[in-house]
Amino acid sequence: MTEAAIAIIGGTGVGRFPLDEGPESVTVTTPWGDALAGVGRLRGRRVVFLARHGAGHRLPPHRIPYRANIAALRMLNVRAVLATTAVGSLRTDLVPGDFVLLNDFIDFTRYDRGGTFFDEPGQVVHTDFSDPYSPQVRNTALAAAETLGIALRPRGTYLCADGPRFESPAEVRLFAAWGADVVGMTGIPEATLAREAGLHYAGVSLVTNPGVGLSEVPVAHSAVEAVMAAMGPRLQSLLTETAAQLDVDALPPIGPGVPLPGLSEARWG
Ligand code: HPA
Repeated sequence: MTEAAIAIIGGTGVGRFPLDEGPESVTVTTPWGDALAGVGRLRGRRVVFLARHGAGHRLPPHRIPYRANIAALRMLNVRAVLATTAVGSLRTDLVPGDFVLLNDFIDFTRYDRGGTFFDEPGQVVHTDFSDPYSPQVRNTALAAAETLGIALRPRGTYLCADGPRFESPAEVRLFAAWGADVVGMTGIPEATLAREAGLHYAGVSLVTNPGVGLSEVPVAHSAVEAVMAAMGPRLQSLLTETAAQLDVDALPPIGPGVPLPGLSEARWG
């Protein structure tokens, strides 16, 4: 059976990830379309890297093949996922350059992004989200941050908006009033599909800008990319250390435990 792996999903500003061996590019054909990934080794571990926005940041948030990406990871025998997201802050005490380890989310996506693997009659699967992000991967990320002396906020609620536009000031006030801490455009349905597929998933957000209306300056994608570039090396070392410390073979089962329709168990090994 193929060795179990950890995957890194790189968001805006993390289009590449240096591994110790590889990555070797693979195109994985899934019932939900093709996904492009790189497979290699990092600190002795089998690691899969997937650039969420595709090669050269081509895909806008609502065009990302979320189901194909997660199904492909499952088919590559990935057990745990560490995902990065660039986010706007909804609170004045979260500032550009801050790292937040997510522990909860609000799904405010309203257009169909392919939010479930179980969407046919006869496949009624209700997945538990009482602990929305993997506690084991979160704890490992916290331990890795401590090892490296990187400040990582241990909790944060992520609100996923559709984009690709940025929010209005009233939306930012609403999201903050709902209890969200950061806003982004890509964290859902990635996290929810991962849970449906039985993958442990944790999200590390990097605050790139104050939410619209919290500062005088309008948000620009170039500013988001500039903060990502400045903080990239720290983010990369945090992900590398987390991958090195995580024992994927010791992770308990997670998710509904239902095979993904169209994929046989045998192909997941
Ligand atoms: N809003 C939504 N997504 C984002 C933002 C934002 O302010 N910054 C980076 N990604």
